[in-house]
Amino acid sequence: VDKFPGYVRHSQYKKQTQQDLEYFESIVGRQGYITGKDDIAPYNIDWMNKFRGQSQLVLMPRTTQQVSAILRYCHDQKLAVVPQGGNTGLVGGSVPVFDEIILNMKNMNRVRSFDSVSGILTADAGCILEVLDNWLAEKGYMMPLDLAAKGSCHIGGNIATNAGGLRLLRYGSLHGTVLGLEVVLANGTILNNMSTLRKDNTGFDLKQLFIGSEGTIGVITGVSILTPLRSKAVNVALLGLNSFDDVQVAFKKSRIELSEILSAFEFWDIHSFQMFKKHFDHKEVMEKDYPFYILIETSGSNKDHDDQKLTTYLEQMMENGTAQDGVVAQDQQQMRDLWGIRDGLTEALGKEPAVYKYDISIPVAKIWDCTEDMRHHLKVGGVFGEPDSPVINVVAYGHIGDGNVHLNIVTRDLDTQVSDLIEPYLFEWVARHQGSISAEHGLGVAKNEFLGYSKSPEMIDLMKTMKDMLDPKGILNPYKYLPQS
Ligand code: FAD
Ligand code: MLT
Ligand code: ZN
Repeated sequence: VDKFPGYVRHSQYKKQTQQDLEYFESIVGRQGYITGKDDIAPYNIDWMNKFRGQSQLVLMPRTTQQVSAILRYCHDQKLAVVPQGGNTGLVGGSVPVFDEIILNMKNMNRVRSFDSVSGILTADAGCILEVLDNWLAEKGYMMPLDLAAKGSCHIGGNIATNAGGLRLLRYGSLHGTVLGLEVVLANGTILNNMSTLRKDNTGFDLKQLFIGSEGTIGVITGVSILTPLRSKAVNVALLGLNSFDDVQVAFKKSRIELSEILSAFEFWDIHSFQMFKKHFDHKEVMEKDYPFYILIETSGSNKDHDDQKLTTYLEQMMENGTAQDGVVAQDQQQMRDLWGIRDGLTEALGKEPAVYKYDISIPVAKIWDCTEDMRHHLKVGGVFGEPDSPVINVVAYGHIGDGNVHLNIVTRDLDTQVSDLIEPYLFEWVARHQGSISAEHGLGVAKNEFLGYSKSPEMIDLMKTMKDMLDPKGILNPYKYLPQS
């Protein structure tokens, strides 16, 4: 879509002039910005090709001081700004709605320090997640989060969205692993809280406010994060199962039998798998298909011990009929191949004509009821996939260990007939079960109007008050995150 439906440009924001451009050039230099429709195009459109803005300027500062000077000027001049990392966000938060200036962080990409005793890393916000992970690998450490977008997303973007991903089950959320942040506020003030302390009870923990704030109250420029030791022994297994009840039994049992070495527990349904196989070459690893799959990863320090634990667990799963078939990766390549299925689901869906992505938290026991109910609810015009049905399929996968399912509704087109059927129906479902309408992708422009399904009016009012206090002129990522109506 070219436009954000129903949104009107706020006239309070100044339109950018030649004079503004000259000022920005004096800060970032000629290499530090991009103009020109074609060159800017990739920065104006999101990863899903769903949201497109019309910015005429991308600024790429190299230092915190440059970010500060840019924001101070934009604040004075009332120029609206979109902070942008790797532009892999899935809710339209990283691209402009109208002509906001894009503040892309990719040139702030240096590691600042690493303490090899504590594992505490400090880095610029524009470092790519995978680059940091590879850098740490050489030192025997790893990043505490992992996601399929790791080759493009920035650590600053991860923190701004409070990304969850595939390792949250083991290493917890960024609210726990981030120890400090350097943030530039809307008026250019630099808030230096690059703490490298694990314990610090002096006053409000301000950094927590910026984790998951999606660029609406400050620009993250520096990060201090606790990184775990890289495990010496890693195993990956894939199981095929007949029912979602079996998935739950397998999860519960994995916590008992694998306990401290369990590092990921992911699931996907047959519809997701079929979508993957449609778009990628895939060498079958099991003789037949199953309605559900789980991918289990263990990470520990003693291979024999971990192998024994995993074997015992898998034998139990097969003997008592919880799992129908299973494979354990025999080498690094097979591990990558098995993870490749899970990591490839998002990209496979991206190759379909249109996808409505939902990212909800509800009690694990309800995940499949919700999916089935959506399948039933959306059987508009008959059967999925038949020419008269606008819905091609409903597929589910996700971080089952975190109670987070990704429900993806694949359609022939972006179609209000379908989206009106999903929203708010699905959000009502989530609210009835005290769930969250966004477990990890955030609100952006895709979910902001529905915040009331997960937060009370008092909480939303307080959020608006905080936004007004930290960004009184509303220049940071306008039209997003909070309900506009
Ligand atoms: P962007 O997309 O550029 O920006 C996202 C938001 O953060 C925007 O609102 C932007 O304004 C703001 N922002 C970016 N940088 C800064 C900054 N320095 N300061 C202030 N605000 C900033 N998400 C998950 O949680 N778990 C997953 O498992 C997961 N897997 C994914 C897999 C794929 C294939 C893709 C495409 C996406 C996936 N995502 C996942 C979503 C997305 O990758 C994450 O939300 C990621 O953290 C976004 O980082 P980014 O650098 O691309 O940020
Ligand atoms: C994932 O877990 O794969 C990501 O959150 C992206 C998605 O939902 O497709
Ligand atoms: Zn996810």
